[in-house]
Amino acid sequence: MNELTRAINDHLASEFQASHTYLAMSIWLREKDLAGFSTYMLTKSHEERQHASRMIAYLVDSDAEVELPTVEAPQRSWPSVLALFDVAYAMEKGVTASINRLYSMAEHQAERSATAMLDWFVAEQLQEEAEARFVCKRLRLAGDNTAALLLLDQQFLEGTALSHIKRGLSGFAEA
Ligand SMILES: [Fe+2]
Ligand SMILES: [Fe+2]
Repeated sequence: MNELTRAINDHLASEFQASHTYLAMSIWLREKDLAGFSTYMLTKSHEERQHASRMIAYLVDSDAEVELPTVEAPQRSWPSVLALFDVAYAMEKGVTASINRLYSMAEHQAERSATAMLDWFVAEQLQEEAEARFVCKRLRLAGDNTAALLLLDQQFLEGTALSHIKRGLSGFAEA
Protein backbone atom coordinates (compact mmCIF):
# COMPACT_ATOMS: atom_id res chain seq x y z
CA MET A 1 0.00 0.00 0.00
CA ASN A 2 1.59 3.33 -1.02
CA GLU A 3 1.75 6.30 1.35
CA LEU A 4 -1.25 8.13 -0.13
CA THR A 5 -3.45 5.02 -0.20
CA ARG A 6 -2.47 4.38 3.43
CA ALA A 7 -3.37 7.95 4.39
CA ILE A 8 -6.75 7.82 2.60
CA ASN A 9 -7.53 4.54 4.35
CA ASP A 10 -6.55 6.10 7.67
CA HIS A 11 -8.84 9.05 6.93
CA LEU A 12 -11.79 6.66 6.51
CA ALA A 13 -11.71 6.23 10.30
CA SER A 14 -12.45 9.97 10.74
CA GLU A 15 -15.53 9.76 8.51
CA PHE A 16 -16.90 6.57 10.12
CA GLN A 17 -16.14 7.90 13.60
CA ALA A 18 -17.95 11.16 12.77
CA SER A 19 -20.94 9.17 11.48
CA HIS A 20 -21.04 7.15 14.70
CA THR A 21 -20.66 10.26 16.89
CA TYR A 22 -23.45 12.11 15.06
CA LEU A 23 -25.70 9.07 15.48
CA ALA A 24 -25.02 9.08 19.24
CA MET A 25 -25.76 12.82 19.31
CA SER A 26 -29.01 12.26 17.41
CA ILE A 27 -30.08 9.66 19.99
CA TRP A 28 -29.27 11.92 22.96
CA LEU A 29 -31.14 14.84 21.38
CA ARG A 30 -34.15 12.61 20.60
CA GLU A 31 -34.20 11.51 24.24
CA LYS A 32 -34.43 15.22 25.18
CA ASP A 33 -37.37 15.62 22.71
CA LEU A 34 -35.31 18.05 20.62
CA ALA A 35 -36.63 16.53 17.40
CA GLY A 36 -35.21 19.20 15.06
CA PHE A 37 -31.62 18.96 16.31
CA SER A 38 -31.97 15.18 16.46
CA THR A 39 -33.11 14.89 12.83
CA TYR A 40 -30.28 17.19 11.74
CA MET A 41 -27.71 14.99 13.47
CA LEU A 42 -29.20 11.84 11.95
CA THR A 43 -28.83 13.41 8.51
CA LYS A 44 -25.22 14.35 9.34
CA SER A 45 -24.58 10.76 10.40
CA HIS A 46 -25.80 9.49 7.01
CA GLU A 47 -23.75 12.14 5.19
CA GLU A 48 -20.55 11.05 6.94
CA ARG A 49 -21.11 7.46 5.78
CA GLN A 50 -21.58 8.79 2.26
CA HIS A 51 -18.25 10.64 2.59
CA ALA A 52 -16.56 7.36 3.52
CA SER A 53 -18.31 5.64 0.57
CA ARG A 54 -17.08 8.35 -1.79
CA MET A 55 -13.46 7.72 -0.74
CA ILE A 56 -13.93 3.95 -0.87
CA ALA A 57 -15.25 4.29 -4.44
CA TYR A 58 -12.16 6.33 -5.32
CA LEU A 59 -9.84 3.67 -3.88
CA VAL A 60 -11.64 0.83 -5.69
CA ASP A 61 -11.78 2.76 -8.98
CA SER A 62 -8.06 3.49 -8.78
CA ASP A 63 -7.29 -0.17 -8.07
CA ALA A 64 -6.06 0.58 -4.53
CA GLU A 65 -6.63 -1.54 -1.44
CA VAL A 66 -9.45 -0.72 1.02
CA GLU A 67 -8.99 -1.44 4.71
CA LEU A 68 -12.08 -0.65 6.77
CA PRO A 69 -11.24 0.83 10.20
CA THR A 70 -12.39 -0.08 13.69
CA VAL A 71 -14.98 2.40 14.94
CA GLU A 72 -14.88 3.20 18.63
CA ALA A 73 -17.95 3.59 20.83
CA PRO A 74 -18.78 7.30 20.87
CA GLN A 75 -19.56 9.55 23.84
CA ARG A 76 -23.21 9.02 24.83
CA SER A 77 -24.18 12.19 26.66
CA TRP A 78 -23.28 15.88 26.77
CA PRO A 79 -23.76 18.57 29.47
CA SER A 80 -25.82 20.77 27.11
CA VAL A 81 -26.85 21.20 23.48
CA LEU A 82 -24.16 23.88 23.17
CA ALA A 83 -21.51 21.52 24.57
CA LEU A 84 -22.64 18.91 22.02
CA PHE A 85 -22.30 21.35 19.10
CA ASP A 86 -18.91 22.54 20.39
CA VAL A 87 -17.77 18.90 20.13
CA ALA A 88 -19.26 18.63 16.62
CA TYR A 89 -17.47 21.82 15.52
CA ALA A 90 -14.12 20.65 16.92
CA MET A 91 -14.62 17.28 15.20
CA GLU A 92 -15.27 18.96 11.83
CA LYS A 93 -12.14 21.08 12.23
CA GLY A 94 -10.19 17.88 12.84
CA VAL A 95 -11.64 16.32 9.67
CA THR A 96 -10.74 19.46 7.68
CA ALA A 97 -7.14 19.25 8.93
CA SER A 98 -7.01 15.60 7.87
CA ILE A 99 -8.40 16.41 4.39
CA ASN A 100 -5.82 19.21 4.04
CA ARG A 101 -3.01 16.79 4.90
CA LEU A 102 -4.28 14.33 2.27
CA TYR A 103 -4.47 17.15 -0.27
CA SER A 104 -0.89 18.25 0.36
CA MET A 105 0.30 14.67 0.04
CA ALA A 106 -1.63 14.15 -3.21
CA GLU A 107 -0.25 17.41 -4.62
CA HIS A 108 3.28 16.48 -3.60
CA GLN A 109 2.93 13.15 -5.41
CA ALA A 110 1.24 14.83 -8.41
CA GLU A 111 -1.74 12.48 -8.03
CA ARG A 112 -4.24 14.50 -10.06
CA SER A 113 -7.10 12.02 -9.65
CA ALA A 114 -6.68 12.24 -5.87
CA THR A 115 -6.67 16.06 -5.77
CA ALA A 116 -9.75 16.05 -8.06
CA MET A 117 -11.51 13.68 -5.63
CA LEU A 118 -10.40 15.79 -2.65
CA ASP A 119 -11.60 19.08 -4.19
CA TRP A 120 -15.16 18.01 -3.36
CA PHE A 121 -14.15 17.38 0.27
CA VAL A 122 -12.44 20.77 0.59
CA ALA A 123 -15.67 22.53 -0.44
CA GLU A 124 -17.78 20.24 1.75
CA GLN A 125 -15.64 20.92 4.85
CA LEU A 126 -15.95 24.69 4.32
CA GLN A 127 -19.73 24.31 4.45
CA GLU A 128 -19.73 21.86 7.37
CA GLU A 129 -17.56 24.15 9.48
CA ALA A 130 -19.74 27.15 8.61
CA GLU A 131 -22.86 25.22 9.68
CA ALA A 132 -21.40 24.03 12.98
CA ARG A 133 -19.95 27.45 13.80
CA PHE A 134 -23.31 29.13 13.06
CA VAL A 135 -25.19 26.75 15.39
CA CYS A 136 -22.61 27.22 18.17
CA LYS A 137 -22.92 31.01 17.89
CA ARG A 138 -26.73 30.87 17.83
CA LEU A 139 -26.73 28.65 20.91
CA ARG A 140 -24.37 31.07 22.70
CA LEU A 141 -26.77 33.91 21.87
CA ALA A 142 -29.68 31.82 23.19
CA GLY A 143 -27.84 31.26 26.48
CA ASP A 144 -30.24 29.92 29.14
CA ASN A 145 -33.32 31.01 27.19
CA THR A 146 -35.34 27.82 26.57
CA ALA A 147 -37.71 29.57 24.14
CA ALA A 148 -34.74 30.54 21.94
CA LEU A 149 -33.44 26.95 22.06
CA LEU A 150 -36.86 25.58 21.06
CA LEU A 151 -37.16 28.11 18.24
CA LEU A 152 -33.85 26.93 16.75
CA ASP A 153 -34.98 23.30 17.20
CA GLN A 154 -38.18 24.14 15.32
CA GLN A 155 -36.20 25.79 12.51
CA PHE A 156 -34.17 22.59 12.16
CA LEU A 157 -37.42 20.61 12.02
CA GLU A 158 -38.72 22.86 9.25
CA GLY A 159 -35.39 22.77 7.41
CA THR A 160 -34.87 26.55 7.52
CA ALA A 161 -32.20 26.84 10.24
CA LEU A 162 -29.25 26.61 7.84
CA SER A 163 -30.79 27.57 4.50
CA HIS A 164 -28.69 30.74 4.26
CA ILE A 165 -25.48 28.69 4.61
CA LYS A 166 -26.64 26.02 2.15
CA ARG A 167 -27.15 28.79 -0.43
CA GLY A 168 -23.48 29.55 0.20
CA LEU A 169 -21.77 32.54 -1.33
CA SER A 170 -24.36 32.68 -4.11
CA GLY A 171 -26.64 34.12 -1.40
CA PHE A 172 -24.45 37.23 -1.50
CA ALA A 173 -24.14 37.16 -5.27
CA GLU A 174 -27.92 37.19 -5.71
CA ALA A 175 -28.51 39.93 -3.14
FE1 LIG B 1 -17.25 14.01 6.37
FE1 LIG C 1 -18.54 16.30 8.45
